Amino acid sequence: MRVVQVAEFGPAQNLVLAEEPDPTPGAGQLLVSVAAAGVNRSDLLFRSGRYHSGPPLPAVPGGEGAGTVVAVGPDVTGFAVGDRVLGWGGIGAPGFYRELALVQQDKAVLVPEGVDLAAAAGLPIAWLSAWHCLRALAELRAGETVLIHAAASGVGSAAVQIAKDLGATVIGVVGSADKQRWISELGADHTLNRHAADIVAEVERVTEGRGVHVALDAVGGLAFAQSLKAVGSGGRVVALANVALAPSTVDTRDFYPKNVRINGFQLTNLMRAGWDPRPELRELLSAVHEGRFTVPIDASFPLADAAKAHLLLESGDSQGKVVLTIQA
Ligand SMILES: NC(=O)c1ccc[n+]([C@@H]2O[C@H](COP(=O)([O-])OP(=O)(O)OC[C@H]3O[C@@H](n4cnc5c(N)ncnc54)[C@H](OP(=O)(O)O)[C@@H]3O)[C@@H](O)[C@H]2O)c1
Repeated sequence: MRVVQVAEFGPAQNLVLAEEPDPTPGAGQLLVSVAAAGVNRSDLLFRSGRYHSGPPLPAVPGGEGAGTVVAVGPDVTGFAVGDRVLGWGGIGAPGFYRELALVQQDKAVLVPEGVDLAAAAGLPIAWLSAWHCLRALAELRAGETVLIHAAASGVGSAAVQIAKDLGATVIGVVGSADKQRWISELGADHTLNRHAADIVAEVERVTEGRGVHVALDAVGGLAFAQSLKAVGSGGRVVALANVALAPSTVDTRDFYPKNVRINGFQLTNLMRAGWDPRPELRELLSAVHEGRFTVPIDASFPLADAAKAHLLLESGDSQGKVVLTIQA
């Protein structure tokens, strides 16, 4: 089978096609013919040698994917050959930039008929993170207002839809006028261009001085400092990434007098600590199946063009998800 490997850390061109023997499923494992793999910033960071964890090289990136079960190992229950599944794991375990993946049965859920496998492949990282952060951590409720940084990104475009589904008002921050239009179409009520607007002043204007109830921050750096200022009394800030790769200068007086709660979130470490994402992924899949959400896919690339997928994500120009489409 064909895989895409990182043999040496570096630029996107370091993603190279390689051959590996077809794997055989062991106890508790599904052998999945991978229809699509999600491409994520964690893959970019791993490829360039900047990710906080990962296996030794050569390694196959890809923390999420979806496809069809083609064989099952001993002790597998609840899955059979022919089932459509989505799966997840750390970089290289199994690494979904490959034609055939060994997926642990407790890291897979069934995908309902009618849900596209490329859309399903985009759920376990960006969508699940937005879902858990807004619902479980921030406890966003109907009638509240949420500030979403990088609102056109994989996480952000999911968060906009999830927040609207919850009945919240969305203020989305993006980096271009095109993205402002795009997130409006997704449902954002107010859009701000981070290069043109004073984010904190605009939030104050839109909320008539009350501040937002929730800020979802995948950007870090300046955006985290803005989030602390932008939330109102009793507000909640969830920080889940640092796309800016920059520290934040914060003034504790921006949040403690308002009794603000700050949550951190990191999916893989939460799972390592024992959190089981399957119930929330099943809820998400049902919502996609019911048509409450669409997973926007900006571009899909064949396995051989994985480098192009990385370059697109790296450019910051993508809207929604970027995926690799692998097996028919
Ligand atoms: N903690 C977790 O478990 C977890 C889970 C999922 C994702 N993440 C992380 O969350 C972040 C977002 O993921 P994603 O898939 O939504 O990313 P993405 O689709 O690649 O989007 C990132 C966006 O961030 C915006 N951005 C704002 N400031 C930026 C800056 N200084 N440099 C570069 N981009 C900047 C850009 O959009 P604009 O120009 O429109 O602002 C860019 O398109 C990533 O860092 C990812 O690794 C973390």
